[in-house]
Amino acid sequence: MAHYYKEESHTFNEYLLIPGYTDENCIPANVSLKTPLVKYRPAVEEPAITMNIPMVSAIMQSVSGEKMGIALAKEGGIAFIYGNQPIESQAEMVSKVKSYKAGFVVSDSNIKPDATLKDVVAKLKETGHSTMAVTDDGSAHGKLLGVVTSRDYRLSKLSMDTKVEEFMTPFESLVYGEEGITLSEANDVIWDHKLNTLPVIDKDQKLCYFIFRKDYDSHKENPNELLDHNKRYVVGAGINTRDYEQRVPALIEAGADVLCIDSSEGFTVWQQRTIKWIRDNYGDTVKVGAGNVVDEEGFRFLVNAGADFVKIGIGGGSICITRETKGIGRGQATAVIAVEKARRKYFEETGIYVPICSDGGIVYDYHIALALAMGADFVMLGRYFARFDESPTNKLMINGNYVKEYWGEGSNRARNWQRYESEGHLSFEEGVDSYVPYAGALKDNVTVTTSKIKSTMCNCGAITIKDFQEKAKLTLVSATSIVEGGAHDVIVKNKDNH
Ligand code: IMP
Repeated sequence: MAHYYKEESHTFNEYLLIPGYTDENCIPANVSLKTPLVKYRPAVEEPAITMNIPMVSAIMQSVSGEKMGIALAKEGGIAFIYGNQPIESQAEMVSKVKSYKAGFVVSDSNIKPDATLKDVVAKLKETGHSTMAVTDDGSAHGKLLGVVTSRDYRLSKLSMDTKVEEFMTPFESLVYGEEGITLSEANDVIWDHKLNTLPVIDKDQKLCYFIFRKDYDSHKENPNELLDHNKRYVVGAGINTRDYEQRVPALIEAGADVLCIDSSEGFTVWQQRTIKWIRDNYGDTVKVGAGNVVDEEGFRFLVNAGADFVKIGIGGGSICITRETKGIGRGQATAVIAVEKARRKYFEETGIYVPICSDGGIVYDYHIALALAMGADFVMLGRYFARFDESPTNKLMINGNYVKEYWGEGSNRARNWQRYESEGHLSFEEGVDSYVPYAGALKDNVTVTTSKIKSTMCNCGAITIKDFQEKAKLTLVSATSIVEGGAHDVIVKNKDNH
């Protein structure tokens, strides 16, 4: 006979937090949003990876490429580079995030000494960057012979045929840094010599990077950035349960810090095999999350298989039509509550804390606070991040408004048959192709979102996520009080962001 769950399943929209006592210490400036990413034994060790904010980006073509990886690590979270692409290109994206050194820029405007002013003008138009490296072979890492900036030529005075070597600032007159220089040392040189740009060269005079004065400032603006032991950004990558024997080594080689099996359904023998293969070949050195599950049984299964974290959610994603097409899923709030209960039980039995991630279905910022209060250690977001400059999709103007494209991994557009089907094609879609309102830069939005979460936590008397989880008081709301929750019985002048 079928098993019937006693309770209905609920969404985040149906819950609210009840305030707790707030003391003078409980102010947003004192709140830490640090949260563990992978399992650990709290009594004896720290987690191998701790994030500075509880947000990761979804493993989706329309969300997580290298730009997302860099921008999100800058804010303290982690992007999971999408796995629905050839192994080589995914590994390339991972290595682009890893090789990005905050403040160190690989020159994208390079020119040979025998090029002409006409070429300089053309390149300026192409890249929009007025600082150009003059290298022997015209490449970003060729031997540095000089630098051209707009201060080196006057278009009204100089013939377009003039050779670059005649008007560039030659190497002998340049102030430069040597490979190994730190950002703060470079900044001192920039200030001492009143420079805008400092080239960094290796022992053979080959160009490594440029350091720009403005980038140093922006580096200082990112106090939360998430770095590995070598001061490189931390990045994740999605894998599937088919080509892991090839994909995992390539991603690890490229520098991925953490992997996550990307599947709509995690309670499967294939996930078990994938994790086993990783453990057999890498022991515990490779960190891997698994999912998605929505109940205790699924959680136990993945943890016993060796997962480092477990992802929760089926059918709640904004682009998801799994519930409509297959009748499978569970209200996201109920799923998080059930899995958190299972996690707690597991912790009591073993002393091992397995982080859990609420994936999909976050519509308002306060849903993140609810997910955390219910026990999630972090949330995975697709739609949220798809709206920003840093997502890899096109920005378009539709009916006078800017939008960005956003499509599900189970849509025909993504053709992610590894996530959704076994025969090598999608027999039906489980996701839609859509637009989301364009919302600007990731940094600005994440700053607002995290401020709201901190403020909610303070109202509940908590300054750490753990504290919040212990102290939170939650209530289900009736359908009518949901109406009461929005602005009502007034004519709203302009629609605010949530
Ligand atoms: P969102 O944050 O509500 O947009 O949900 C993002 C999550 O939806 C992802 O992290 C996936 O778990 C899930 N997802 C991605 N593509 C699809 C799809 O095509 N169908 C169903 N779920 C999807």
